[in-house]
Amino acid sequence: MFWVQFFSRHASVQKILAISSVTRRPSKSVKHCRSVCLRSIFFNSVKYYPTKLVLGIETSCDDTAAAVVDDTGKILGEALHSQNEVHLKTGGIIPPVAQQLHRENIERIVKETLCVSGISLDELSAVATTVKPGLALSLGVGLEYSLKLVDKYKKPFIPIHHMEAHALTIRLINQVEFPFLVLLISGGHCILVVAQGVSDFLLLGQSVDIAPGDMLDKVARRLSLTKHPECCKMSGGKAIEHLAQQGNRLHYELRAPMRHHRNCNFSFSGLCFNATRIIMQKEKEEGLQEGHLLSCVTDIAAAVQHAVALHIVQRTHRAILFCIKSGILSQTNATLVISGGVASNQYIRRALQIVTDATNFNLLCPPPRLCTDNGVMIAWNGIERMRAGLGVLHSTDGIRYEPKASLGIDISEQVGEVAIKVPSLEVSLNELATINL
Ligand code: KG4
Ligand code: ZN
Repeated sequence: MFWVQFFSRHASVQKILAISSVTRRPSKSVKHCRSVCLRSIFFNSVKYYPTKLVLGIETSCDDTAAAVVDDTGKILGEALHSQNEVHLKTGGIIPPVAQQLHRENIERIVKETLCVSGISLDELSAVATTVKPGLALSLGVGLEYSLKLVDKYKKPFIPIHHMEAHALTIRLINQVEFPFLVLLISGGHCILVVAQGVSDFLLLGQSVDIAPGDMLDKVARRLSLTKHPECCKMSGGKAIEHLAQQGNRLHYELRAPMRHHRNCNFSFSGLCFNATRIIMQKEKEEGLQEGHLLSCVTDIAAAVQHAVALHIVQRTHRAILFCIKSGILSQTNATLVISGGVASNQYIRRALQIVTDATNFNLLCPPPRLCTDNGVMIAWNGIERMRAGLGVLHSTDGIRYEPKASLGIDISEQVGEVAIKVPSLEVSLNELATINL
């Protein structure tokens, strides 16, 4: 905890902590009281120069999340309520249900975050909240709640672009200078961008239909993976990854889409269709109705995961070559950052590592818990924006959420015109399929 780490550098406080450490592990509220008490001792003895403290709030989809982060990147506290289990039962996100769950949990999550952080609302430098893109009903809950907070406590407000936050999360963990290449792969998005500054992006390519996480969720649903004892509570993508480890991808042929389109766009709906066709064929062969588990789910999961990885790898490889060829990135800025829920997939990470090894790029990925939606990335984006003096509002008049919002300047057509041929990495990728991850 921040205050504990902060105070532990102070000798008299170290003594207090040493004494308190032999006592019984306190409950949250006791912990909170103790940190308040320690802080008052500290304030009386040492001159304190406050750092920036931002409360981040995320409700763009199906996670209600909050965090307090300071300007050194320290996470003081965070809390998250996932709606995943509810949506798994209903076979997908029903927006009014997501809205209701956000409403029921947002206050608790914010209070918990502040309590764990040992920070009061008065001490915050600003509140940062996701306002775009996302589900309208979900975004609305976070925005309404945040506007009430900033109005009551007279705090600046920082509206956050969810994808910008995913893209910049890495800078909280690693010292990555701009520019760098970013691949964002999640349930709602699939984009390749060059991050040139905190709010300065070049869009190289994006999915022309659905996102990879959406596709994996659809295939997982069609395979009824919530009925599988090993992955009944996992998101679709996670369930596919889990089962794929036990399967043989070579039993089914699923080809990577768009191989003849020499651009950096993606497409996953054809892959979804082909996977569904295989599932229907197998159901016929095994005499099963839809809704029952096939005997070959692991092999189908492995084939689907491999095709998704191959497609992502080919487009990302072209983006790397384009950035080098056009001089957007040089060998000193040769970094690929991957983030978003699907980036927590180890198989896809390993496949991308093969590409970055072949192109002398550095591959960086936040830990899985910071790849999926979370409050930390929103709070950190708030810190980045405060430091850059970008988009910190002292009046929230006219502020709206935006369900649809692109990221950066779209140069995807120029990327397609250069039509770079990507060398085959087939051999290395075939080896990947035989590695037990
Ligand atoms: O970034 P995220 O938490 O939410 C947004 O979509 O913004 O991503 C959620 C997506 C879901 O589609 C989920 O199935 C997928 O990420 N996902 C995974 C894995 N964990 C979550 N996909 C593949 N492998 C995983 N391990
Ligand atoms: Zn996300």
